[in-house]
Amino acid sequence: MKLNILKLLIVALACVSAIVVITKARAQKSSPAPRQFVSLSSLGMAAPAQTPAAATAPQEKTTEQVQKNIKVLKGLPQSQLIPVMNFFSASLRVRCTFCHVNNNGVWAFDSDEKPEKERAREMITMVLNVNKTTFKGGVEVSCYTCHRGNRNPVSLPPLPLPIPSPRPSPAPGAQASPTLATMPSADEIINKYVVAIGGQAAIDKLKTRVMRGNIKTSSGVTLTYQIEQSAPDRAHEIFMSEQGTMERAVSGNMGWEKNPQGLHDITGQQLADLKMSLQLFRNLKLKEQYTSLRVGGRKEKIGERDVYVITGTTADKKRERLFFDAENGLLLRRVSYTETMIGIIPEQTDFEDYRDVEGVKLPFTVRLSAVDANRVSTRTFTEIKLNVPVDDSKFNKPAAAKTNP
Ligand code: HEC
Ligand code: HEC
Repeated sequence: MKLNILKLLIVALACVSAIVVITKARAQKSSPAPRQFVSLSSLGMAAPAQTPAAATAPQEKTTEQVQKNIKVLKGLPQSQLIPVMNFFSASLRVRCTFCHVNNNGVWAFDSDEKPEKERAREMITMVLNVNKTTFKGGVEVSCYTCHRGNRNPVSLPPLPLPIPSPRPSPAPGAQASPTLATMPSADEIINKYVVAIGGQAAIDKLKTRVMRGNIKTSSGVTLTYQIEQSAPDRAHEIFMSEQGTMERAVSGNMGWEKNPQGLHDITGQQLADLKMSLQLFRNLKLKEQYTSLRVGGRKEKIGERDVYVITGTTADKKRERLFFDAENGLLLRRVSYTETMIGIIPEQTDFEDYRDVEGVKLPFTVRLSAVDANRVSTRTFTEIKLNVPVDDSKFNKPAAAKTNP
């Protein structure tokens, strides 16, 4: 039982979708990812050219091919099912049990016993329709648009109404907002960041990185954590708690995870996501990760700090926003958006406590915020070492008596 908790926790932390645990779904090769049309104007981003999923995106099954009882979320890639379910839960501020049956700890997610699930289906259909018919196929309206953390959205304005403040009249002749011309370019902002963290030469010299510290979850559990990374794309992580230890690694096109219950491979979209998030240069070589970069029209604020915001599109058509301290150039925040047919799911990483490690400035506190409460966590490093020897055999899948493929 305790081990299960650890497992779920770590799986969630680990950005390996919890669906593996829930359904024991097997990844197989499958039909191409469905074409999705998304507009991001609600995020203050210009709608990108609408293109089909990148040819490089790993092909993956859709929910109705894997799950037992999908009636309206047809075409949703399987890897997005649990993120979308978390998005529903977050939008209504409810738990899975609001819509799903749990009999003494055993989930029956495919059961239609709860009327709330059926109601949710009607809502999903409505959202898909309204986006299609009124918003030209963009994902403009989502569950959150109306629900905003409530089961019952408020339709009536509560009286007495606050008195609207007069619209500030701009000074005669003044520009309503600073023009792009007064903003640095995306290249300039990223170049300044590279200099701020120690310069391109110091980054290019990096071969390995070892980081130790702990992870605190939103439920207050603290795990001991260690990651060893080897450029460009090999990494091995260990999570330790009183309940047990979990290890996992990515190396080339291989990924595996070992926990108290056994050893299994990480494949498909999960492997792709994990490889991306664990690579040594993830936050150090930014320019290479985007096919397009655009600077926002004005500075924004994070706390007291002025920040420049860059919107980037990755090769697999994911949108991200990068927030750089306008003064010292450091990367303070990175937000990625998973575009699904039913809503855009944000995930935010904040970088704090930058310290110099052998000529490279690195954040010693990294906060992850997400709609999935299990993923909310803070990593605090006590030690970071660069270019120390890392034993290559660490990345290889260990031999195990018990294997759960
Ligand atoms: C607001 C209601 C709602 C909440 C909350 C919700 N779900 Fe769902 N879930 C649904 C609906 C509706 C479907 C079926 C979708 C369809 O028919 O296309 C579904 C389907 C599923 C399925 C597929 C079942 C199958 O085999 O057919 C899984 C797994 C699942 N949900 C897991 C979860 C988890 C885990 C959570 C909590 C993080 C959760 N859901 C929260 C409404 C909800
Ligand atoms: C256009 C606004 C709107 C949107 C968008 C919307 N809802 Fe609703 N939803 C409502 C309203 C209003 C109610 C309450 C009245 C009712 O239950 O008919 C409600 C009720 C519900 C209920 C029943 C709650 C209860 O207490 O029984 C569920 C479940 C639900 N919504 C799920 C969703 C999901 C999931 C989405 C996104 C796919 C969504 N809604 C999107 C307006 C919306």
